Amino acid sequence: MKEQDRLEMERQLSQLSEAKKLVTDLTQKLGRRPTACVVTFGCQMNARDSEKISGILAEAGYELTEDEHADFVLYNTCTVRENANLKVYGRLGVLNGYKKKNPHMKIALCGCMMQEEQVVEKLRKSYRFVNLIFGTHNLYRFPELLVSCLSQEDMIIDIWKDTERIVEDLPVRRKYPFKSGVNIMFGCNNFCTYCIVPYVRGRERSREAADILKECRALAADGCKEIMLLGQNVNSYGKNLDEPITFAQLLSQVEEIDGIERIRFMTSHPKDLSPDLIRVMKESSKICRHLHLPLQSGSTEILRRMNRRYTKEQYLELALRIREEIPDIALTTDIIVGFPGETERDIEDTLDVIRQVEYDNAFTFIYSKRSGTPAADYPEQVSESFIQEQFDRVLKLVQDTARKRVARYEGQVMEALIEEVNESSEGLVTGRLSNNTIVHLPGDASLVGSIVPVRLSSCKGFYYLGEKI
Ligand code: 5AD
Ligand code: SF4
Repeated sequence: MKEQDRLEMERQLSQLSEAKKLVTDLTQKLGRRPTACVVTFGCQMNARDSEKISGILAEAGYELTEDEHADFVLYNTCTVRENANLKVYGRLGVLNGYKKKNPHMKIALCGCMMQEEQVVEKLRKSYRFVNLIFGTHNLYRFPELLVSCLSQEDMIIDIWKDTERIVEDLPVRRKYPFKSGVNIMFGCNNFCTYCIVPYVRGRERSREAADILKECRALAADGCKEIMLLGQNVNSYGKNLDEPITFAQLLSQVEEIDGIERIRFMTSHPKDLSPDLIRVMKESSKICRHLHLPLQSGSTEILRRMNRRYTKEQYLELALRIREEIPDIALTTDIIVGFPGETERDIEDTLDVIRQVEYDNAFTFIYSKRSGTPAADYPEQVSESFIQEQFDRVLKLVQDTARKRVARYEGQVMEALIEEVNESSEGLVTGRLSNNTIVHLPGDASLVGSIVPVRLSSCKGFYYLGEKI
């Protein structure tokens, strides 16, 4: 960690002591421990940020709860598609109702959506009951912001355009004791023309490998078995560090940590995926047999206008090479339907790639216009009815091929990390195979967190029913 970042960390830890005093006062006033609820929208990156926020709230003295009737409610927002934003506005209305009944309640908002000027303007004008608004670059200042929020009534808004800072070692409260995300880099430099992420998460910066490894070792010592290395574009990890290191090299070093049994990572950009990475994955006994490789479109022309910097043929060559080198790998992807100017012929190309790669799972999204991105100014040439029709075609093919792929291990025995007691069916627990497929099996809470051999008795589409052997 850089010296300046270390000083900032110390400052925030002392602010956290201040926050503790304020929460103690509040406890006395209320005659009970105040509660806090953190709600996460969006991706794994946000989920990890929420664990950091929860860690700080817990350390300050709040009791964490999932009930939004809490004394402190924070929404960690996503803005990758328009409907993510709409959801937040809707739920804020409900929170306002709760706040009217609980005068001590504080409402906070953070995350990607807060990096958009028009959003903050709207909140400032029409959502005056919100107490605290901050963004993605100053999350590490949450202890200080919490102190301000607890000691004043005014709406606090603190949004930065970017930051160089990477502040380490603030408290974290993991959702699962046995698995954790680990940020390896922040931001994104790719500027795909549909995507708002580079504008809300800033420029790409990598954490020092030594800091990442230290965090992984500490997690292993704390009983964590599975680590997911997180970045918007993990394949370009380390390029801008003082001592450059590749993602493949980082993976090899994480692999050496005793106690870590599974390693995952998210997300890979096809243009930066190196032969070295394929080799390291192939030779590894810990890196999970799963690669998420976003396609977005199978049409070279659409890909060009999306600024993805690969062609249909290059993507296919890469995906099929990975399939050949690591036959038991599960490939998953993201697909956008309805990009400006997309025609039926472009969709045919997307369908062709799905047929050839045979994804194990694919997330299909309808294009959402994000203001400020280049594609938002492309002339719209795609009608809603066309999009819906094409979306249904893509979804159907994805489901058909995925069902076939997922089912290929029926009857076999594989190891599953048991993640939770199944909420809807009594007597069942839910585990995850190395290739990310879910399996439900008879068992109880004592199994949670362990890796056990499971017979995959029957495939139910995207998941298995199985039994521990
Ligand atoms: N519209 C629809 N989907 C989008 N994604 C990113 N931006 C948009 C957008 N404007 C999808 C991409 C990405 C995933 C996280 O979200 O497929 O891989
Ligand atoms: Fe994650 Fe992107 Fe959504 Fe932010 S905008 S939460 S980085 S998916």
